Amino acid sequence: MRWLTRRSRVPPVLRLSLAVILAAASIVGLAAPPSQGQTSPTNPNGGAAHEFNPPTKSPEAPAPGDPTKSFPDSPGLRALGYTLYQGTCASCHGIALQGTPGVAPSLRRVGPGPVDFYLSTGRMPLDQPKSQPLRNPPLFNRAKIYALIAYISAFGGPRAPTADPAKGDLTYGFHQFTLNCAGCHQIVARGGITVNAQVPDLEQANPQEIAEAVRMGPYLMPHFDAKQINQHALDSIVRYVLWTRSPINAGGWGIYNIGPIPEGIVAWFIGLAALVIVARLIGERMDERT
Ligand code: HEC
Ligand code: HEC
Repeated sequence: MRWLTRRSRVPPVLRLSLAVILAAASIVGLAAPPSQGQTSPTNPNGGAAHEFNPPTKSPEAPAPGDPTKSFPDSPGLRALGYTLYQGTCASCHGIALQGTPGVAPSLRRVGPGPVDFYLSTGRMPLDQPKSQPLRNPPLFNRAKIYALIAYISAFGGPRAPTADPAKGDLTYGFHQFTLNCAGCHQIVARGGITVNAQVPDLEQANPQEIAEAVRMGPYLMPHFDAKQINQHALDSIVRYVLWTRSPINAGGWGIYNIGPIPEGIVAWFIGLAALVIVARLIGERMDERT
């Protein structure tokens, strides 16, 4: 074990600069430029390349006969919703929900689903119109969220979807998730990145939020109608997503099930450590000869 405790003869300054260079090189390697076929996240004018949701990406309605989620509604709630809306949302979405071109989409006819989803997951109010809405602690409590839902859904729109994992089938859910979601969210829903967007892991979304996300397609996510993903498929997908939170890691170390690339990086770390040990051992032998 002398090789571990032996003091290196390389001056500390040189060792430090070598470490900095290696760290920089590894970061450059990780942040390699996008390969051909991928677009750069910003356009030449410096603005975000992401176009706002065209008005056509309105939320998909649940099919007739499918279960829907009801939210409380009353004149009092709508009045509170109006006040909250004017104070926190109107600057971007317009005083009459008409939207502001280049800033934020119209909220007319979005219905309760997207409002519940964006407020429950703390995505709205957004700080910057151009930034991706991300999950945050919700700004409003449940009563205020209900007020905003009541006010905004008075302007029309489909009823909110819902899902019941108890009615789903795990194997079918796995199949449907692989088909429709895994390409972006990774096979056990640990998330990742696509061109121009961060794809969240699905460890925090509750069944209601998952159903709403599937039907509305937040940000760059596509939306799915009841023909593409019917109620049974939706229930099953939700069941599968809940299951991924405690998967069985047969065959060894799961490393949080983050997928082949991060797992490859872990292999690199182990490999690098082994190389350093080997280098140290070789260095020792040279010392003995001289
Ligand atoms: C094209 C890539 C893509 C596909 C396919 C996709 N998603 Fe998404 N998903 C996203 C992105 C991007 C977001 C983040 C949206 C945002 O920032 O508001 C997201 C967000 C979500 C969220 C919100 C998570 C949270 O914690 O707030 C849920 C739930 C979700 N997706 C479920 C699904 C399900 C279920 C499917 C399959 C039926 C699916 N997604 C298919 C890209 C995708
Ligand atoms: C800084 C500007 C800004 C503020 C403030 C803001 N929003 Fe948004 N909102 C946006 C943008 C931009 C989008 C489009 C996000 C995207 O690309 O999907 C959006 C999308 C939405 C959507 C989804 C609409 C759809 O396409 O179905 C809802 C619902 C929403 N906002 C509700 C609210 C509510 C409620 C508030 C107030 C509590 C609020 N927003 C405050 C900018 C804002």
